[in-house]
Amino acid sequence: MQNEAFYLQQMMENYKSRAGTLVVTSGKGGVGKTSIAVNLAVCMAASNKKVLLFDADMSLGNVDILMDLNSRYNVSHLLSGRRSIEEITCTGPAGLEVICGASGLAELADIGDFQRERLLSELSRLQTENDMIVIDTAAGISKAVAGFCLSADHVLVVATPEAAAITDAYAMIKLLAKNAFAGRISVVVNMAETMAEGRNVYRQIANAATHFLGANVYGAGVLLRDERLTQAVRMRKPVVLAYPKSMIATSLLELAARLSNGMQAQPREQSFFRKVVDWFF
Ligand SMILES: Nc1ncnc2c1ncn2[C@@H]1O[C@H](COP(=O)(O)OP(=O)(O)OP(=O)(O)O)[C@@H](O)[C@H]1O
Ligand SMILES: [Mg+2]
Repeated sequence: MQNEAFYLQQMMENYKSRAGTLVVTSGKGGVGKTSIAVNLAVCMAASNKKVLLFDADMSLGNVDILMDLNSRYNVSHLLSGRRSIEEITCTGPAGLEVICGASGLAELADIGDFQRERLLSELSRLQTENDMIVIDTAAGISKAVAGFCLSADHVLVVATPEAAAITDAYAMIKLLAKNAFAGRISVVVNMAETMAEGRNVYRQIANAATHFLGANVYGAGVLLRDERLTQAVRMRKPVVLAYPKSMIATSLLELAARLSNGMQAQPREQSFFRKVVDWFF
């Protein structure tokens, strides 16, 4: 009986100790991934959760620009051993923690096993010290982007009413389905002119995913095109802070609440970062 109780306790620890991982992706560039990731992370952090925003855009990472953060260090400084994980982490609004420039992860291939293990355990610590990790990815469906998505608990695919964005969102869902992704897939439609247009785009994607891939895709909501978001970008402030009472801020808050509820971490024998790195090499 004691053994069974111990087993249950261990299993519960397994659930408790890992942050849920949410990857924001799209395929097509410029659809609002970074804006959505930043605002979601701020909303989640504001609800007393320990949240880490991880900028995994290897080419044009600009999470720091959207929040006017001064990020001097990134994962490559951690890798070279010059900086600690605390030193490469910046603090954003609402106590949100931010790590910029994951391009360093690709360099993990070139280092020895011992150093790699040490770094991976440092990165894995992020998952035990936070409640949620939000990851912003680059445009395109590269191997790196696929690695982040397939390692996550939850993938948020951003689409817009543009035909190319719909096709790319579907291509991303197809990649997940073909690789037997076991997490949750949600779609948010951004820059819609009307709610009806946005819902229609979601239905097209979800129907195709069910029909051709047998994949279940959740509707995370619709975000309308809103000039205030563009203005907030210019002000280098998340729109939920720049215009907290605007429609777009309310929609982003609702999106954050919906995603937090559907984002319990799965018990995994491997940490998120270890899975990402295993996928790379
Ligand atoms: N709902 C919206 N209403 C108005 N403008 C928007 C909206 N969402 C995003 N934008 C604008 O679109 C531009 C691109 O947004 P963002 O950088 O978030 O896209 P991205 O998908 O991260 O791009 P990339 O693929 O280059 O990383 C931004 O300048 C932003 O102002
Ligand atoms: Mg971006």
